[in-house]
Amino acid sequence: DWTMAHFKDTEIAKIRDQVGSGKVICGLSGGVDSSVAAILIHEAIGDQLTCIFVDHGLLRQDERAQVESLFRETYNIPLVVVDASERFLAALKDIDDPEQKRKIIGKLFIDVFDEEAKKLGDVDFLAQGTLYPDVIESVSFSGGPSVTIKSHHNVGGLPERMRMKLVEPLRELFKDEVRALGRELGLPEAFVNRHPFPGPGLAIRIPGAVSEDKLAILRQADAIYLEEIRAAGLYDTIWQAFAVLLPVRTVGVMGDARTYDFVCALRAVTSTDGMTADYYDFSHEFLGRAARRIINEVRGINRVVYDITSKPPGTIEWE
Ligand code: XMP
Repeated sequence: DWTMAHFKDTEIAKIRDQVGSGKVICGLSGGVDSSVAAILIHEAIGDQLTCIFVDHGLLRQDERAQVESLFRETYNIPLVVVDASERFLAALKDIDDPEQKRKIIGKLFIDVFDEEAKKLGDVDFLAQGTLYPDVIESVSFSGGPSVTIKSHHNVGGLPERMRMKLVEPLRELFKDEVRALGRELGLPEAFVNRHPFPGPGLAIRIPGAVSEDKLAILRQADAIYLEEIRAAGLYDTIWQAFAVLLPVRTVGVMGDARTYDFVCALRAVTSTDGMTADYYDFSHEFLGRAARRIINEVRGINRVVYDITSKPPGTIEWE
C-alpha cells in the first residue's frame, strides 16, 4: 500500500544517512520483526549488513533451517549462524524463576552475539527489530516508579562495552504495520503472517526448570498443535498459538498400563498489538482432535488442557 511504500523509502533514506559507509550487524530471532528490519536494512545498504542468528536451543521445530533458507537462499543476505544451545542449557540448569530465566538468556545472548560480532572486525552499528509496543512496555511512566511488565531482552539491554550505535527502523511501528512492510519487501505471506515468538523462546513456555528432554517434548506438542491449526484454516485469524509444558505430572491410562506424565496446556489468543488479548474460542471438536493427537503422538504428555485466560488479567505467555 502507498503508506508503507512511502514509509519504506523514507526509512531506507534514513538508514543510508545514519549508517554512511559503516558496518552493521543485525541479530535475527527467526521472527517477523528482526527479519523485516534486516531485509529493509539490506535493501538500504547491501552487504554492509551481516546478520547473526544465535541458536539458543530454545527454538521451535525446524525454525533454524527456515531462517537459513530464507536469508541465504531467498534474499542472499550474509548470515552467520551460531549454535550455542549447550551454553544456554547449561546456564539455565535448575533456574525456575521467570525473570531470572529472561535475564540469563538475555545476557548470554548478548555475550554470544558480542563474540561473533568481534570476529567480524570493526562494526559500527547494531540493528534491532524493536517495535513500538516493546518500547512502551519497558518505559518508566513519569511521576511514578519505573514499571517493567516483563523484561524484554531486546530493549535497552545493550551493554556499554559494545559501543555500537543502534539502528531501529521499526521503532514507531505496530505489528500489523511491520507485516505490511514485510509484504512491501517481498516476504512470503506465510512468513509475514507468522505468529510472534518471544526472544527467550521455549524457555518461558516451560514453567520451572528447562531441560533438553522437556524442550524435545514441547517442540513435538507445539508442532502438532500448529499443524492442526493450519489444517483447520485458523492460523491467520489467531494472533499467537502455542503449547506450554507444565511442570506437573498426572496419572493416566494407556492400554492396561498406568502412565505418569506431564500436562500440556494449549494457548491461542486474538489481539491487534499484543497489549491486550482475548482467548481464542476453538470448537470443542478442534480441541478434542488436537489433544488426542498430542497425547497419542508425544511421549511424555498424557493430559492436555486449554487456557481460557484473556489479557489482562493474564499475559499471553505463561512466564
Ligand atoms: P505477554 O506475555 O507479555 O506477551 O502478554 C506480549 C507479547 O510479547 C511477547 N513476549 C516477548 N517477546 N521477549 C520478547 O521478545 C520477551 O521476553 C517476551 N515476553 C513476551 C509475547 O510472545 C507476546 O507476543
